[in-house]
Amino acid sequence: MNSLTATLERSDSVRADVADNPHRYRILTGERPTGPLHLGHYFGTLSERVRLHRLGVDTVVILADYQVITDRDAIGRVRENVHGAVLDYLAAGIDPNRAVIFTHSAVPALNQLLLPFLSLVTEAELHRNPTVKTELAASGRALSGLMLTYPVHQAADILFCKGNLVPVGKDQLPHIELTRVIARRFNERYGEVFPEPHALLTAAPEVPGLDGRKMSKSYGNAIALSMTADETAALIRRAPTDSQRLITFDPAGRPGVSALLTTAALCTGADERELAAEIGDAGAGALKQLATDAVNEFLAPHRRRRDEFARDPGYVRGVLRDGNRRADEMADRTLGEVRDAMGTAY
Ligand code: TRP
Repeated sequence: MNSLTATLERSDSVRADVADNPHRYRILTGERPTGPLHLGHYFGTLSERVRLHRLGVDTVVILADYQVITDRDAIGRVRENVHGAVLDYLAAGIDPNRAVIFTHSAVPALNQLLLPFLSLVTEAELHRNPTVKTELAASGRALSGLMLTYPVHQAADILFCKGNLVPVGKDQLPHIELTRVIARRFNERYGEVFPEPHALLTAAPEVPGLDGRKMSKSYGNAIALSMTADETAALIRRAPTDSQRLITFDPAGRPGVSALLTTAALCTGADERELAAEIGDAGAGALKQLATDAVNEFLAPHRRRRDEFARDPGYVRGVLRDGNRRADEMADRTLGEVRDAMGTAY
């Protein structure tokens, strides 16, 4: 059995167990604050994260700000992006009294775990990571030391709080596998400190961007959760379609038209082909109107709550400050155990 099949099977059995025993689990997940969160994040990970949180699973959400500079030189508008992501977490239903929301750059002991962890992997293992290879190719730049080693840093992100459940998309699986290897090797070498975390693959289909490619801020094809209804309408109006009036669902042949159908389907719970039949030969204009209404209706409650939180920036900063403090305490405790295990507690 190959390792992806094994991971998928574990993911399914863990999913079943979480529903019965939510208190056995701590989820650690999050994202790189490279831009505003969009519908892809919402359906891909955010909704699953909130579902687990509501089940009572202990929740730690990371904003991996050092990971912003893995594939680019500039850190960009990182403060604004962090603030915006916290707003989206709060609006989506993450309760900061029951969750830790933090930025990893603010937690020194987490970062210190990188040193012993680096000793547990070989250069060849790092070079084999398929996600790093893809990201490197997409970045069009030379391989930096951070790019090569960030999956080890990500292992520190997960293990500093002994997270044992990581809801992620498929592209992150190599990193979770490496995290398990690092936990195992550490425990074998120095004594049991770390759990081997499980990946929990999100069942949601990949959300296409408005041009049919993967939804990504850098392609300009993403509907940000923070957009207004008018901005959403304008973006969808500019989406590439074709001049064939009969609307059909054909992702390979008609990527733009099909992406709009999928977007509307996700937001309404309807089926793409049903929606296409409903529109019939009314053309791309009618399709765009339908998709715009679907997205704006679906996001209206989220945007309303987001706007309310945004009116109180002091509160949002407080959530992050408190999250960083609690993450710091967890990291200190774990680093203490690591020092004891390694015999470096002086
Ligand atoms: N690499 C993840 C991404 O690009 C973000 C991330 C950083 C993460 N650290 C993590 C995800 C730890 C899960 C667990 O989306």
